[in-house]
Amino acid sequence: MPDPTVSSNSGYRGYHQAQRGGSDEILVRCGQGTACGEYLRRYWQPVALASEVEDVPQLIRVLGEELVLFRDGSGRYGLVHKQCPHRRASMEFGVCEENGIRCCYHGWLFDIDGSVLEIPGQPEPLVEKVKPQATLGAYPVREFRGLVFAYLGPIEKIPEFPIYDTLEIEGQTLVPYRADYRCNWLQVLDAILDPIHTSFLHSRMSRAQFSEGMGEIGELLFYQRDMSFLGANVRRVGDHVWVRVNELVLPNYTQAGAAFSADGTRPIYYGRTAFARWVVPIDDENTTAFAWAIFGDRADPVEYNTPEGPELIE
Ligand code: FES
Repeated sequence: MPDPTVSSNSGYRGYHQAQRGGSDEILVRCGQGTACGEYLRRYWQPVALASEVEDVPQLIRVLGEELVLFRDGSGRYGLVHKQCPHRRASMEFGVCEENGIRCCYHGWLFDIDGSVLEIPGQPEPLVEKVKPQATLGAYPVREFRGLVFAYLGPIEKIPEFPIYDTLEIEGQTLVPYRADYRCNWLQVLDAILDPIHTSFLHSRMSRAQFSEGMGEIGELLFYQRDMSFLGANVRRVGDHVWVRVNELVLPNYTQAGAAFSADGTRPIYYGRTAFARWVVPIDDENTTAFAWAIFGDRADPVEYNTPEGPELIE
């Protein structure tokens, strides 16, 4: 007999909503052969801070792949598959040499593009025969302003390296940083076009993490131009109209308006991004944002260029 004091038309949907939602398989998977995994592999992606990469090979994970990142004795960056093509020893335990990386097991030497340079202890005819088939999987790597980028897609489709004009403004300082998250990459990425969260999460719910004005809920406007999506939050502050714009450039590059300097109380014209970041899947359940905090007249003030600055943002 149903309880007559609780109408079946009222709320109390706990039982019906107890099932966990599923995942959007197209968007959340990042491995090779998945829809988004292949999409992300058509773009240069940051994989490390330059300050983290030394002549000791290190194991990293990106887009679900375990890879070994290093700098050889000539200062060149290398990003290679974890397993040596000979007997599958881990290249993490290899040794960096002047021209590449040497496997710890039988001493094969590989160039940064994965080609075999030396196979010790074998007759020359055999070496020449084996070399073309024995390449180590490798990806192109380059450094830009303190971030190390790699291209993990098919080499015949490698795109031009992107340099945005907002990163080239004279007099501004770009400070590279990283932030690690234990969730899927989309859960980190979508906040850039979610202006309401700044009013609550970063302001009203705790404290004014950035400026007081961020707590205002403004008029929200959204635009699209080609691969770029813009989200504007327009607030009235006294006699001023404060327009803060965030941008997402597909698939995973974001540029955000000033975090600390703007609050609408004083005139600022044509401010530029104060933090730019790539939201990179480590695997399906972990993400790293590789970013620059940007300081200068048109971004955030230089006094925020402290280790705590990026920490506050993230
Ligand atoms: S396993 Fe690497 S050289 Fe043999």
